[in-house]
Amino acid sequence: MPDTVEIFEVGPRDGLQNEARLIPASEKIALVDLLSRAGFRRIEVTSFVSPKWVPQMADAAEVMAGITRAPGVSYAVLTPNLRGYQGARAAGADEVAIFASASEGFSRANLNAGIAESLERFAPIVAAARADGVPVRGYVSCVVECPFDGAVPPGDVARVVAALRDFGCYEVSLGDTIGRGTPEAVDAMLARVSEEVPPARLAGHFHDTGGRALENVDVALARGLRVFDAAVGGLGGCPYAPGAAGNVATEAVLAHVTAAGFETGLDAETVGLAAEMARTMRTG
Ligand code: HMG
Ligand code: MG
Repeated sequence: MPDTVEIFEVGPRDGLQNEARLIPASEKIALVDLLSRAGFRRIEVTSFVSPKWVPQMADAAEVMAGITRAPGVSYAVLTPNLRGYQGARAAGADEVAIFASASEGFSRANLNAGIAESLERFAPIVAAARADGVPVRGYVSCVVECPFDGAVPPGDVARVVAALRDFGCYEVSLGDTIGRGTPEAVDAMLARVSEEVPPARLAGHFHDTGGRALENVDVALARGLRVFDAAVGGLGGCPYAPGAAGNVATEAVLAHVTAAGFETGLDAETVGLAAEMARTMRTG
């Protein structure tokens, strides 16, 4: 039986949060609805974050209310604090994600809090989600490089991964936020992190600034990871990570892992249409 890879589509969130043009909710809804037909099991739709910090995500509730949910798809959102979690619950999110950083500099820039304080803020989200039976995914940003602090030691990543594991996150996604990770650095990081959480519960989240994201996918595959975050059309970046380019494109990861013999359950034609729609949204 062929081995499987799951692509976790993050385009509507990670992709669109960084666009200069204010994209109408109707366009975001159309993108999510098209993605719902492509065979993804999980789609990250939006973030319930402060609109002062990320104006592009101010329409989170409207987008969640407007999408047509396909059976078997988990519609995921980002939640930075309890207020965000409550918004996500009210909107009927199937799962939420908490997001920490392995570097202090990015943590402060992105969450206005150091790593320890950000983790304290996540505790009530995790408690509420557990009581509500809502799965929580964890993100760690800057797993190899930080735009403010430079190279990030693997031990620092492992510490935050362990904290998210102890919170009960069902999976931890490892973000090369600025997309400058080399395969060697990614491999060293994965070796250390796998001592805390088994590869089956880790995901690779590669941005492609340096053009090495697919090589980093290969390194992660060799380490046993089978889940990769990606954005159709290579949309994306983080407004608090200067110099970060888009996520690795879903269609590129799909072609890459398919050529390597993995099953994804995705319909390449629909993914291609969504990539085209995403690129059009970018230019308006
Ligand atoms: P703060 O300014 O310290 O917090 O921000 P605050 O409590 O003072 O709130 C500021 C204002 O926002 C207040 O409004 C709050 O009410 C409001 P005011 O009273 O001034 O009118 N507010 C909210 N509004 C709606 N929903 C909320 C919410 N919370 C507060 N949930 C805070 C702290 C965490 C809120 C802020 O820093 C924030 O929202 N940060 C999120 C930044 C973000 O979304 N970054 C992008 C996602 S992470 C990423 O892209 C990386 C990833 O892809 C992985 C990778 O690539 O590495 C995941
Ligand atoms: Mg990202």
